[in-house]
Amino acid sequence: MIREEALKILHDNMQFVNLRRHCYAVEAVMRALAGRLGGDMAKWGVVGLLHDGDYEKTKDTAGEHTLLMHEWLKNAGETDEEILNAILSHNYSVTGKRAPGSRMEWALYCCDELTGFIVAVALVRPDRKLASVTVESIMKKWDQLAFAAAVDRKQIEMCEEKLGIPLQEFVGIALGAMQGIANDLGL
Ligand SMILES: [Fe+2]
Ligand SMILES: [Fe+2]
Repeated sequence: MIREEALKILHDNMQFVNLRRHCYAVEAVMRALAGRLGGDMAKWGVVGLLHDGDYEKTKDTAGEHTLLMHEWLKNAGETDEEILNAILSHNYSVTGKRAPGSRMEWALYCCDELTGFIVAVALVRPDRKLASVTVESIMKKWDQLAFAAAVDRKQIEMCEEKLGIPLQEFVGIALGAMQGIANDLGL
């Protein structure tokens, strides 16, 4: 699966721009994490781009989320089990299909919610731009549990145990990756 194919699958099935932007953000962060951890940047990127690609079609049937994408990828001829499993693994708590195991899967699991948290921090900056967000400004909000209360900090903090990356470094990698595509994210 190359990026152009993945992008087509995403855009064919997801129209809401903010959902697409979430997928672009996770793609960028996954690529950066592959660089940090010696993973396959193209593969990790495709997994990030597609991880929520069926979200619009499964928003009322959470148990189908990732299973539908798995089916689309199989139909598109995807045979790479690492990609197929990684997509499934991020909704394991709902589907029970595939628990995160590989580093690529843990990277996805840990960075997914972080991208939303960083967007939330950007939106309360005076200029509402990613460019003015710093690791310090993110960490300040981290301990304010009422801020972006839906974001599960614990899930992100598992980057330390599962990936061996200290939280502040993990946040910095994600922020840098998202700043690199700020235009695509509308921020
Ligand atoms: Fe998801
Ligand atoms: Fe996601």
